[in-house]
Amino acid sequence: MPSSTLTVTDNRTDRTYTFPIEDGTVRAMDFRRIKTSDDDFGLMLHDPAFMNTASCRSDITFIDGDRGILEYRGYPIEQLAEQCTFLEVAYLILFGDLPNARELDHWVYEITHHTMLHETAKKFMEGFRYDAHPMPMLVSSVAALASVYPEADNVHDATNRLLQIKRLIAKMPSIAAMSYRHSLGFPYVYPDNDLSYTENFMNMLWRMVEPKYAANPVLARALEVLFILHADHEQNCSTSTMRVVGSALTSPYLCVASAASALAGPLHGGANEEVIRMLDEIDSIADIPAYIQNVKEGRGRLMGFGHRVYKNFDPRAKLIKKIAQDVFGVTGHNPKLEIALELERIALRDDYFTSRKLYPNVDFYSGLIYQAIGFKPEMFTVLFAIPRTVGWLAQWQEMLDDEEQKIARPRQIYTGPRSRRVVPMAERELAAAAR
Ligand code: CMC
Repeated sequence: MPSSTLTVTDNRTDRTYTFPIEDGTVRAMDFRRIKTSDDDFGLMLHDPAFMNTASCRSDITFIDGDRGILEYRGYPIEQLAEQCTFLEVAYLILFGDLPNARELDHWVYEITHHTMLHETAKKFMEGFRYDAHPMPMLVSSVAALASVYPEADNVHDATNRLLQIKRLIAKMPSIAAMSYRHSLGFPYVYPDNDLSYTENFMNMLWRMVEPKYAANPVLARALEVLFILHADHEQNCSTSTMRVVGSALTSPYLCVASAASALAGPLHGGANEEVIRMLDEIDSIADIPAYIQNVKEGRGRLMGFGHRVYKNFDPRAKLIKKIAQDVFGVTGHNPKLEIALELERIALRDDYFTSRKLYPNVDFYSGLIYQAIGFKPEMFTVLFAIPRTVGWLAQWQEMLDDEEQKIARPRQIYTGPRSRRVVPMAERELAAAAR
């Protein structure tokens, strides 16, 4: 029976060390025992971008990147997308099990009754420039809520934490919709408690003078499914940010603002906006080969392609392609779809992309659907942030309850100069010239 241990020989000293292997991992701290002398600090692991570091144990989301599997709490994403509502999935992600009818009713009631924004937050948002991008507006406004709810700082009180979780899930669509209306110069619309989570969001976005907003059910369901697909994705850049900031016991509003800031980047959640810009730039099918050649020669990336974890296909991208058909059935064809399909077809036959295992990711087709539903590209990442708030909060809560966790604090390999002497100002030019 092979033992679940790792034996390492340090060739500097000829000493061997044996470490336990648990769940396919070894403890980085075990390596600190490897020293050349008593006053040696011990070996550290160097892992830029955390390519091979498990930072936590988690019960929330399972991904098998080679097989294209995504599960929340053990349920395949395909079944959840087909059979559940977004708030049902949110409950599952946060509490570990699907709700029964009574639990779901109570949960929906609670979220629905926290959707209103404090008038201070509204005033704060009115201060943004008329053409402010909705993503920084969202980030700043969520952060501002930390001042409205100072009691949220008490992160060790589970009851208080749950209240802030409900508030955040409920208020994200309200903030997102206000950001959008602000950029159009329209008055803000207050939530309508009769409507479902996505219908109410659509109401706050698009209601004009009609007394009651009626969302198209196909589009509302498409948005609901997109929200389900984006709800969590284990330790990605924004979720890791949430955990790192949360590990300092920071207010959840500031943690979510930090996570949303990470999401805004073009290599993460900002990619959906970039995909539309890329399709605009390509403009016609005839231009695709030249565009791909540029990417292969290192001039830019094919946005919406590639993933750190998925090296086969992104299961979310498959589901999104299906939703696109339903949405285009209502809204009419999006002419950019032809370009996207052809781009995918050409890339998937090209050795550059196949040898690097670069496949369409969740962002490749989502922007086309958002655009068909009526969103401007600037809103796409905001649409990602709303459902991902659920994942961020579930991971934050798990981190706070995990006795192994402490304040996050990586090490570094210092490569700069040491023990320099401060040269008086009058001598600095001469000293620099002498170097
Ligand atoms: N287009 C062209 N080449 C690419 C792409 C791409 N989209 N993605 C990776 N590569 C190449 C990269 O140049 C490198 O080539 P080489 O080995 O010759 O240097 C190789 O593939 C490996 O790339 P990497 O940068 O080491 O991979 P990574 O795991 O660090 O990056 C990624 C993952 C998602 C940041 C990257 O694939 C990318 O930039 N994709 C485009 C942006 C995008 O669509 N992001 C959304 C990700 S999914 C949703 C989300 O996370 O929010």
